[in-house]
Amino acid sequence: MKPRLIVTRRLPESVEARIQSEFDAVLPAIDGPMPQDELLKLAQNADALLVTPTERIDKALIDALPASVKIIATFSVGYDHIDLSAARNKGIAVSHTPGVLTDATAEIALLLILGASRRAYEGEKMMRENAWTGWTPTQLLGRQLSGKTLGILGMGRIGQAVAARARPFGLTIHYSNRKRLTAELEQGAVYHQDPEAMLPQIDILSLNAPASPETHHFLNEKRIGLMKQGAIVVNTGRGALVDDEALIAALKSGRIAAAGLDVYENEPRVHPGYKDLPNCFLLPHLGSATLETRHAMGMMALDNIQAVLSGGTAPNGL
Ligand code: DGY
Repeated sequence: MKPRLIVTRRLPESVEARIQSEFDAVLPAIDGPMPQDELLKLAQNADALLVTPTERIDKALIDALPASVKIIATFSVGYDHIDLSAARNKGIAVSHTPGVLTDATAEIALLLILGASRRAYEGEKMMRENAWTGWTPTQLLGRQLSGKTLGILGMGRIGQAVAARARPFGLTIHYSNRKRLTAELEQGAVYHQDPEAMLPQIDILSLNAPASPETHHFLNEKRIGLMKQGAIVVNTGRGALVDDEALIAALKSGRIAAAGLDVYENEPRVHPGYKDLPNCFLLPHLGSATLETRHAMGMMALDNIQAVLSGGTAPNGL
């Protein structure tokens, strides 16, 4: 008998094909975040759950899961939506999909850096609204990347991949991370154990840290005050790293020249203050959204599930 797998969201075709062939699967008829009560109902007699960051897998839900559920595999590298200790206490394995989305997410970080620095939103808008009257020497002057300093908060796989892509643009790299990297991985980047020591020295801040109690609202009014006048901020980590009120006020006053955002606190709700600001380049959480990456994430999640269901441990267990 095939193991029973509950899948909360529609997934790329190749991933769903593997699911159908290896599992007795329940796939949603209509795509959308799965409410907890529905997930719980479907989970009765299930062996595994394949979830995404759009579902909150909290203690109450985990405690109510039947003993048949052996693994919760998330189709994401981030796992701030899952209560790991509740799962551990209940003996349910949890896995995620690290590594396979590094390049795609770093590409989006670079897109945000370029889009925010070179006023891509304003240029696009001008073209689409037929408002362009021709080239002028002073039109939409942005900030050049070459010769500037990029500060990366969170120098894991994705932070390092952002650094590797930023260097050829002529950016000098500073970073702050709980642990200093080896010289080989650092590639000459300047380490700051204290992120507050990094902020005054950089022109662009890239947030690449996970959401956690320590990083919650990292970028607040006080820390914005430590940054250079006219600095740029991009976020491909998690929305909760930013105090939206503080960033919006700084974008309005020009203290922060521009922001590029791919992630938001309380997604899919976006603080309305961002939407009227021309100096914001906004994307809808596209970090890992490539055909190649989403296929790889699906395969990795399924490998994790199969490993646990065959009595082993998840290769990407948490
Ligand atoms: C992740 O994997 O955590 C991303 O944010 C969603 O792709």
